[in-house]
Amino acid sequence: MRSDPSESGADAKGLNPDILPVHVGMIMDGNGRWAQKRLMNRIRGHEKGTRTVRDIVSACRELGIQYLTLYAFSTENWGRPQAEVKALMVLLKKFIISEREEMESRDIRLNILGQLDKLPGDIQEEAQKTMDLTRENRSMTLNLALSYGSREEITRAVQSLADQVAQGSLKPGDITEESISAHLYTASMPDPDLIIRTSGEFRLSNFLMWQAAYAEIYITDTLWPDFTREEFIHILKNYQERDRRFGKVKCSTSSDG
Ligand code: IPE
Ligand code: IPE
Ligand code: MG
Repeated sequence: MRSDPSESGADAKGLNPDILPVHVGMIMDGNGRWAQKRLMNRIRGHEKGTRTVRDIVSACRELGIQYLTLYAFSTENWGRPQAEVKALMVLLKKFIISEREEMESRDIRLNILGQLDKLPGDIQEEAQKTMDLTRENRSMTLNLALSYGSREEITRAVQSLADQVAQGSLKPGDITEESISAHLYTASMPDPDLIIRTSGEFRLSNFLMWQAAYAEIYITDTLWPDFTREEFIHILKNYQERDRRFGKVKCSTSSDG
């Protein structure tokens, strides 16, 4: 992860530290198109995208964003050609190992959202090692969404609650929005305030669908390997100008003032 606080300080000029999103979600899309545009194998795009991941993790840590969730591999991505899936797994393993010390020294906690048990055994081990090592870190939480899909996550939560009902420890009427949230991979974390998707696609693709109820969404045409810290800060400034009403009316404009 690159770290040059003086550089990011200059970039971040104009950002209000009091209204930064607490939790940012990123749908890191466009690696394949980035490579195809250059007549390269899609895998080269994924490799280049890893560098963007380092930059954005670094930027978030320096700016003081507390939770960053990166959509790295969806439940649907298992349906890609085997060679691409394999290459993505190799890159993931490399990332989890190469960033371990950096995460530890920069007080970043790693968390995996998704079906950890579906990942190859060596990745499960390396991920567990990094999660154990960084468990007490508090400056920032990095969530890697791996073999993640909202529908699987919600199904799993419903099964777990149904089990409790079947055992008699929970009444159906006692199931609340809070208890559902508490059974998701993001249990005890705040919902994302801002979700950014690169590569110009206007969809969530099964990402944090429950948690995104009131997230601000920003779509950029930039392909993930070309996404920069500067564009990220530009998006944060755009976020800071938005009026988040959560279904209510602004006090200043309501009739009772
Ligand atoms: C995002 O880039 C990375 C993953 C989904 C793993 P893509 O591989 O989806 O790139 P495009 O959308 O084909 O360009
Ligand atoms: C979403 O991108 C998943 C990740 C970024 C990991 P996809 O490329 O898989 O999504 P679709 O197919 O365009 O919806
Ligand atoms: Mg894609």
